Amino acid sequence: MAVDVLLVGSGGREHALAWKLAQSQRIGKLYIAPGNGGTRLLGENVPIGVMEFEKLAQFAGEKKISLTVVGPDDAFVGGIVDVFQARGLRIWGPTKAAAQIEGSKAFSKQLMRDSSIPTADFAVFTNHDEAIRYVREHGVPIVVKASGLALGKGVAICRTFDEAEVALKEIMLDRVFKDSGTQVVIEKYLEGQEVSIHAISDGKTYKMFPASQDHKTIGEGDTGKNTGGMGTIAPVPWLHQNALQDIEQRVVQSTLEALRNRGATFAGVLFPGLKMAPEGPMVLEYNARFGDPECQVYMRLLKTDILDVLEACVDGRLSDQSIEWVSGFAVNIVIASGGYPEAYKKGFPIAGIEEAEKISDVVVFHAGTTFDGTLKTSGGRVLGVSAVGATLKEALDRAYEAADKIKFEGKYYRRDIGAKALAQ
Ligand code: GLY
Repeated sequence: MAVDVLLVGSGGREHALAWKLAQSQRIGKLYIAPGNGGTRLLGENVPIGVMEFEKLAQFAGEKKISLTVVGPDDAFVGGIVDVFQARGLRIWGPTKAAAQIEGSKAFSKQLMRDSSIPTADFAVFTNHDEAIRYVREHGVPIVVKASGLALGKGVAICRTFDEAEVALKEIMLDRVFKDSGTQVVIEKYLEGQEVSIHAISDGKTYKMFPASQDHKTIGEGDTGKNTGGMGTIAPVPWLHQNALQDIEQRVVQSTLEALRNRGATFAGVLFPGLKMAPEGPMVLEYNARFGDPECQVYMRLLKTDILDVLEACVDGRLSDQSIEWVSGFAVNIVIASGGYPEAYKKGFPIAGIEEAEKISDVVVFHAGTTFDGTLKTSGGRVLGVSAVGATLKEALDRAYEAADKIKFEGKYYRRDIGAKALAQ
């Protein structure tokens, strides 16, 4: 029987999920709320916001939606799954209790400390003067984090005392992240490369995805401010099987078990962000959802029908569901608005997507786009140019050739996505 799906979200991650869902053998109607300029070509965009849980649940009930799939963190952290489940509606993803692992860094750091999950030494503060004193005592470099959600921008790597002072002032006194900055986590700075781990769990068992790597800062050479993510590769060629097994045991299994023991059983995608430090893998943070733009490379590599995987997860049948991946590599280059992650202008017409997609194995995912008869920019991260290839270099060459064909005023992208992995 055809499965009607409501997909919640409006970014590149959701366009990639919609793209993969639309290829399912069993998909019926696909609605995306609110969607973007790209998702409208794959299903019906519905003008309901991500945080309008009651309206979304009412829509799912009226349309007799078989499965609701959610992308964004703030919806999970706000309890969308609990609202749907209370109404007997079938929804994929973690409950509010389980999503605390992403919603509160103070909670997740304490969970790691209690469960001996490897993470940097830290302290939590609600008082600005005490936080300043701690930085003075521990010295720099040091990392200052807003405990709550902050669109990937609430983390400051402070190399000087002045930088730490500015970060603490912005978060704790100026409240630039509002209540997300009520608690601040200050932790030891770790050297090493970051990797993104994803594991899907039905609450009983879990399955690992290939590792991926995001490039978080706006500037090439990992410089400048943090963004939501400027480009991804998968798999990570230098991360070998024994390292992945170690991460699976010491991080993924231990975290799922720790959440279960706290009465917050996790079902959905658990995404620990790691630093591969000289002392071994260390958890920087957890996410309770698919990464964006990690999801885009996963959707390009996933061979199995995604609806089978998501339904097996919701129904607690994940142990019987195989998940197969294309061999080779996938990459996703984010094309952003000039000025992002600070102030930027929107509303510029976008051209060149069709031409970009003529290049073999290239798919362009929309993130911040809108369509009013003309396709226009409407966000900081505008498009993700994805490509697959037998080698990482092949995938990158295709994606960059395609990225060059996209045109809009102020267009910016990093030209070094995957460069470090290629050099290793
Ligand atoms: N790409 C990082 C994130 O989704 O949080």
